[in-house]
Amino acid sequence: MGKIILTGDRPTGKLHIGHYVGSLRERVALQNQGGFDKIFVMLADVQALTDNAENPQKIRDNIIEVALDYLAAGIDPAKTNIFIQSMIPELTELTVYYMNLVTVSRVQRNPTVKTEIKMRNFEKNIPVGFFVYPISQAADITAFRATHVPVGEDQEPMIEQCREIVRRFNMIYGETLVEPEIILPKNHACLRLPGLDGKAKMSKSLGNCIFLSDEPEDIRKKIMSMYTDQNHLRVEDPGETENNPVFIYLDAFCKDEYFKEFLPEYNNLEELKAHYRRGGLGDVKVKKFLNNVMQTVLQPIRERRKEWEQRKPEVYDILKHGCEVARAEAQKTLHDVRKAMKINYFE
Ligand code: TRP
Repeated sequence: MGKIILTGDRPTGKLHIGHYVGSLRERVALQNQGGFDKIFVMLADVQALTDNAENPQKIRDNIIEVALDYLAAGIDPAKTNIFIQSMIPELTELTVYYMNLVTVSRVQRNPTVKTEIKMRNFEKNIPVGFFVYPISQAADITAFRATHVPVGEDQEPMIEQCREIVRRFNMIYGETLVEPEIILPKNHACLRLPGLDGKAKMSKSLGNCIFLSDEPEDIRKKIMSMYTDQNHLRVEDPGETENNPVFIYLDAFCKDEYFKEFLPEYNNLEELKAHYRRGGLGDVKVKKFLNNVMQTVLQPIRERRKEWEQRKPEVYDILKHGCEVARAEAQKTLHDVRKAMKINYFE
């Protein structure tokens, strides 16, 4: 049966460092470990349109932006198949079949959908397509017989719902579909990176992001104006590292070797944190260190992105080829699904 990865992102904006530590870095590592038979990464334009019906140009523009971010972050088209959701009509067909296996109240219980409905003020007028996107996401995953789905923590309810659909389908129509597993980042700080302003989530709509494509000076400015421990007023004061975004970013990005290079008075992050908690360590010094760390991490990504920006026709070729490979795969699954559902009339 093999080990297969399917994952993706909505192309609604450029990717930021929250996407990077939440899932993208993990996908690149999994790709390079070589333990998987097939890897699919999907630009989820159909899903993006569920709450952007009146903004088609935005989605179209961001297909190439997110594809560039993928390539910049190290997704290698020789190992990973990148494709566009809307180019695979089998996914839509599968969604329709799955809709019969899910109740309205089950979709209403999905905590991520609940939060998103609130965030978008959709309470009174949810587009039907948006409401059922978890069902279409189950189609995305199962069409490729994915065994593993590396995503951010907010996607956990989607994977759970997908597993329920798989079990119900297999129970009614016979063993056909594969139940996927989620892969979450092991580092706790990476599960949900807070925004620069300390808000719970880094998000383009909140304007509190560092983007993978940001220039060095923008990164520096953003970091130097970050929220820290609001009670740490004077350098001598003891500070809190727990809910302090500067330290959470260090938890997500810092390696011991960066201390040798940029802050040799300390051996590791634990020593730096202990000093901050004791008092006597100023925010500016910590932020300058974080800036050095982030510049080191983001420089190669930004440079690779600039190279790919010069080769956009090639990027579109990669996507086109990816769509062909992905479609052939989904067609095989749909063949089995139709047979299991006894709607393969002319076979
Ligand atoms: N919901 C994901 C996001 O918000 C995108 C997505 C669509 C996805 N289909 C998927 C992720 C299937 C993993 C698997 O970015």
